[in-house]
Amino acid sequence: MTIGILTSGGDAPGMNAAVRAVVRSAIVDGIKVVGIKRGFQGILDEDFEEMNSLSVADILSKGGTKLLTARCYEFLTAKVQDYAADVLKKHGIDNLVVIGGDGSFKGGAALAERGINVIGVPATIDMDVACTDYTIGFDTAINTAMEAIDKIRDTSLSHERASVIEVMGRSAGYIALYCGIANGAEELLLPETYDHNTQAIIDRIKAAQARGKKLHMIVSAEGIGNSVGLAKEIEDATGIETRAIILGHMQRGGSPSCKDRVYASTMGFMAESLIREGKRNRVVVYKNGEFTNFDILDALAMRKTLPNDLLVMSRKLIR
Ligand code: F6P
Repeated sequence: MTIGILTSGGDAPGMNAAVRAVVRSAIVDGIKVVGIKRGFQGILDEDFEEMNSLSVADILSKGGTKLLTARCYEFLTAKVQDYAADVLKKHGIDNLVVIGGDGSFKGGAALAERGINVIGVPATIDMDVACTDYTIGFDTAINTAMEAIDKIRDTSLSHERASVIEVMGRSAGYIALYCGIANGAEELLLPETYDHNTQAIIDRIKAAQARGKKLHMIVSAEGIGNSVGLAKEIEDATGIETRAIILGHMQRGGSPSCKDRVYASTMGFMAESLIREGKRNRVVVYKNGEFTNFDILDALAMRKTLPNDLLVMSRKLIR
């Protein structure tokens, strides 16, 4: 039995902890582990490296991914998927741990269809994987963004400015929702709920200004877009100096939080256990307060919405 392991899509703090847990558990169980570089691209390039206990030493506290990562658009075609499955079989890699988001699991499901046993481990700062209530990296990313926004708050208040702060999340609003609540924003723009009514935002800022408010922090999700344009519209309409700040890739870096280290280790450990027990084509998840696993196709068919309790609360607190 051989386990191939790869990280795919955007990197996320804690990916290294998951890799380490798979490798260390497999070594204890006498199973060979092959690290695959740059996600699915590494299968096509046959960029493989046998891993031992030392290969994963000193990575637990590091952000990024030791295995490197990439977005492999070539992998979307059936011909390339056939080729990749043949490459894995040629190297005796009969099991594959895929650490990434839904896009990576789709790639994994294509290999599962071609006879490779694929175990998914959800990792993305966006938290937009439907089958799980936790994804590796989200906790670190929201803390990184929260600390950055606190700092922006200090300078915005000193200058009596408005700030449009754009956080990552692709088309999902999880990072924005958490930061909006944690940073005490005055406005929260989420792709899932935004009505594109800029005039209403301007009216609320004017009303707050009339009440004597000196600071206007607008947390905007990446999926809303046009932060610079919105800042200009606000400045033109209110006369309040307004800056757009796009936090960007700093949210993906940094040493993983304790939660991300422990949960990622648990998920990596569980992925190896599933393989050892002969379970096929599963995704490790954290759902309703416990770690469990789902069939990969069932997991991909699930749909996710923002937590309603937090949304309801945010509407009362954010103003
Ligand atoms: O999926 C993680 C993520 O950081 C998203 O929040 C963002 O939209 C995207 O990746 C950015 O991707 P890239 O680093 O390829 O520009």
